[in-house]
Amino acid sequence: MLIAGNWKMNMGYQQALSFLLEFNKLVKKEDKDSFIFFPPAPLSLIFEKEKFYWGSQNIYQKIKGALTGENSVQLFKEMGATFCLLGHSERRYIFGETDVDIEKKFSLVQEQALIPVLCIGESLSERFQKNKVLIKKLSWIKQYNKYEKLPFHPEKLPPDFKDLSFIVAYEPLWSIGTGEIPSVSELEDVISLIKEDFPTVKVFYGGSVSLENALSLSCDKLDGFLIGSESVNPHSFYGIYKQIKSC
Ligand code: PGA
Repeated sequence: MLIAGNWKMNMGYQQALSFLLEFNKLVKKEDKDSFIFFPPAPLSLIFEKEKFYWGSQNIYQKIKGALTGENSVQLFKEMGATFCLLGHSERRYIFGETDVDIEKKFSLVQEQALIPVLCIGESLSERFQKNKVLIKKLSWIKQYNKYEKLPFHPEKLPPDFKDLSFIVAYEPLWSIGTGEIPSVSELEDVISLIKEDFPTVKVFYGGSVSLENALSLSCDKLDGFLIGSESVNPHSFYGIYKQIKSC
């Protein structure tokens, strides 16, 4: 399993350096391949220099242009990114991103040979009809997913991640930052639903993953966690990995 940290807008430069100082004391060289970081864009090169897998939290849906304040996927690629988060619920609901925006970004990310990590999830009121909601959020991928495998540089990829063209992060909205988590059977049903249509895809779970619940959430079908608040604490973040590894 891969353990991904979504730092959102929660870390400054000095905090990032202190995190890595602590984290590097905990993590062994051979375990570094098990982590992915999604830092605020200006902190990206720190992770490249430290030889961790990393990705951008967002990109703009064009490669280049007079677009003050935006970042291009080409720039992230040049800097060494492997992944790009897309469609996180904070992007959808705070910044008004639509499926159409996300579709354009998805194609651009794949064309630049980075792996899209597409976040999907249902709101609390949709929880009991979530299959319908999730199927709709995935339906356009069939049209936009141009590759079985991406033409990327394999050395930039975690060992088991060569035969895929995107990752799905299942993040129920009612779970993000709330302490609420789905049951394992709920989670397994969603993973099966996704893998039915996309058998080679990897599926991550995100939403209130913590040291207390990571072990109970990890199931055979799950390929990774996308962790928000607990990922900014090196001991919690590493502790989650250690628990998963030892089971
Ligand atoms: P959380 O965030 O772990 O703080 O719930 C997860 C996410 O938003 O990716």
